[in-house]
Amino acid sequence: MKDLRRWLYPLLLAVLLLPPMVQTSAQGEKQSQGALRGFQVNSQRLQQTLDKLSEFGRNPEGGVTRLGFSEADMAAREYVMELMRQAGLAVRVDPAGNIFGRRPGTENLPVLLFGSHIDSVPHGGNFDGDVGSLGALEVMRALNEHKVATRHPLEMVVWSNEEGHHFGKGLFGSAAAAGVLGPGILERRDEQGVSLADWLRRYGQDPARFTEARIRPGSVAGYLELHIEQGAVLDETRIPIGVVQGIVGINWWTCVAMGFANHAGTTPMNRRQDALAAAARAVLAVREEVRAEPGRQVGTVGYMRVEPGARNIIPGRVEFPVELRDLEAAKVERIWARIRERFATIAREENVEIECVPLAADQPARTDPVFQQAIREAAQAAGLATMDLPSGAGHDAQNASRFAPMGMIFVPSRGGISHSPREFTLPEEVANGVDVLYRSVLLLDASLD
Ligand code: HGY
Ligand code: MN
Ligand code: MN
Repeated sequence: MKDLRRWLYPLLLAVLLLPPMVQTSAQGEKQSQGALRGFQVNSQRLQQTLDKLSEFGRNPEGGVTRLGFSEADMAAREYVMELMRQAGLAVRVDPAGNIFGRRPGTENLPVLLFGSHIDSVPHGGNFDGDVGSLGALEVMRALNEHKVATRHPLEMVVWSNEEGHHFGKGLFGSAAAAGVLGPGILERRDEQGVSLADWLRRYGQDPARFTEARIRPGSVAGYLELHIEQGAVLDETRIPIGVVQGIVGINWWTCVAMGFANHAGTTPMNRRQDALAAAARAVLAVREEVRAEPGRQVGTVGYMRVEPGARNIIPGRVEFPVELRDLEAAKVERIWARIRERFATIAREENVEIECVPLAADQPARTDPVFQQAIREAAQAAGLATMDLPSGAGHDAQNASRFAPMGMIFVPSRGGISHSPREFTLPEEVANGVDVLYRSVLLLDASLD
């Protein structure tokens, strides 16, 4: 019995810890029959493209680092554009780096747009954005296979730099399309000192034409985005499809606590200007003020950059970001006002300066009830239960709502984990979402205009 344990347990452990992508390739076979079970899309082909995309920027520990405006992102974009061309789409890239693939319609109507992003956060997962982008491609391929002619021209879109890790502006490409980004951002530089204008040139674009990325309201009949929930609600309730009610606004500030770097041994405790002690109090103040009223609002300080950064020097300068999110812009403003008061008190008591500058402000957005209903009917036709819920994550759809009515479809995230190598959604759950996207596109094509 003992030597049985010696080899059986490590084997069991290895199977349980297998990167989910490998584990589910077996399930991938099993659920490929799903394609015969009334799915309108080819779930096995979809999974293969997701697996291939996961190679661009893959990290040894699993997951991916494929930052917007990076070599890995550029290579991944080439892969996706080649698939789009193979699907017979007319592919173009706009001056903000957004990729569009167009399928003609039978009538002279505004385009029906759907898609997401393929860039990731550092050490992110293989589903955030990827599911909606490759799902959109699979919808186009399935329409071709079923020889479906739509009234509206259709366009899939892969938005550029959604995570905004480079250049400190999330939802970058869709913000340019929504006309809420001025060319002033082109001079921002990344950690290698490369300007946004230079990266756009590397992507084959002319920064001088940046404002031409703007999409005129009225030129798009509607926008749909399929995305993983990135929270745990659908996974815990075992509901396969989420009908998104609205998307939170996201506000970013960069703050600096300025004290005085001095000798850690000879400076008495009552004569210090300790920037890190002040910043630490500021982090807790953010959490306290966000928690100080009921609701789903969230607040985060994601990192600290401490200078000079030696164990025997009192920190003189600390940079830290503040992020606040809620469906209600007024609530974010109210909380931010309280946080600033707390920072002023901390600065006075610690004898330091704390200055914050706004970096980005994405407004919250409600989804269109017509689009919500189309998603519910599409899910029902696919035999899938739905649940209405808000999005705690930001999405390009909130910028799209500035030029067109929009809707969002969620599929479950295992354990609500996201922005992590452990982000995971089953192939069958991905296929459910893409199937609902396919059916929603057809329902909206028939009913809009
Ligand atoms: O940060 C977000 O909410 C999104 O994933 N960009
Ligand atoms: Mn994300
Ligand atoms: Mn995303």
